[in-house]
Amino acid sequence: MQSNAQRTALVGGGGAGIGRAVAEALAAQGHQVVVTGRKPPEVANGIHPLVADISDPDSAEPTVREVAERFGGPDILVLNAGGPPPGRILDLGDEHWRAAFELLLLGPLRLARLVLPGMAERGFGRVVIITSTAVRQPQPDIAASVVLRAAVTSAAKLLSREFADAGVTVNCVAPGPTDTERRRQILTARARREGRPYSEVEAEDVAVVPAGRAGRAEEIAAAVCFLASDAASYVNGTVLTVDGGRTETT
Ligand SMILES: NC(=O)c1ccc[n+]([C@@H]2O[C@H](COP(=O)([O-])OP(=O)(O)OC[C@H]3O[C@@H](n4cnc5c(N)ncnc54)[C@H](OP(=O)(O)O)[C@@H]3O)[C@@H](O)[C@H]2O)c1
Repeated sequence: MQSNAQRTALVGGGGAGIGRAVAEALAAQGHQVVVTGRKPPEVANGIHPLVADISDPDSAEPTVREVAERFGGPDILVLNAGGPPPGRILDLGDEHWRAAFELLLLGPLRLARLVLPGMAERGFGRVVIITSTAVRQPQPDIAASVVLRAAVTSAAKLLSREFADAGVTVNCVAPGPTDTERRRQILTARARREGRPYSEVEAEDVAVVPAGRAGRAEEIAAAVCFLASDAASYVNGTVLTVDGGRTETT
């Protein structure tokens, strides 16, 4: 297997949860890692925090420019942020849909548009988009995530074909239930809505996971690191599900 060269990685939502685990795993491999968040992200030693809201049209360009000027690249772009608030399909209003569109589709596309051409010029690029198993197994109480993640999965497929001959790959990692603040919020909202104890709702959530537990953020990060590696050079335009076997389709 090829060894990894040292690269510059830009990781969205890197102050907590899955993004944080990804940032730490990439840094442990020797990459320069810059993480973004709306609040100044709390980071481990050696990781560089940057305040940037992926939904904000004005933040993408300065973010990419700052990374390029300070560290070069980015060579690895991990498109990740928080998920949209939970809600069933008929309960979500226009504003909710617009905010989810900005967060999950337009924000990531804007960054991809700025970063991919440079990756192609340099002859190497890895884009990994964090989506959700909701893409393959729709969950009724996170409707915005289900709908917009289907859209971003299609966008990833198109992006993956743009610079494939220049060493640039674009793939998705679709996590199942993963033990983070986001999961606790979704389960808390479900417990409140259904008037049931959190522990019961949590147990029900993992009961459909053959592994019998929620994933750890580090387990999602391991998949991202593979797709971001030199070794994954011929993996392009795919969705890697990391869900303890939860998804029932092939
Ligand atoms: N956990 C799960 O079970 C699970 C399952 C499937 C899919 N996912 C998806 O995986 C992604 C990460 O989830 P997570 O569980 O790690 O979430 P999390 O624990 O809520 O962490 C989200 C991180 O993203 C940052 N963030 C939120 N909105 C942002 C924005 N607009 N711009 C930049 N950064 C932003 C947050 O920091 P600030 O608040 O400071 O911005 C935080 O650091 C989400 O898209 C989620 O839907 C999670």
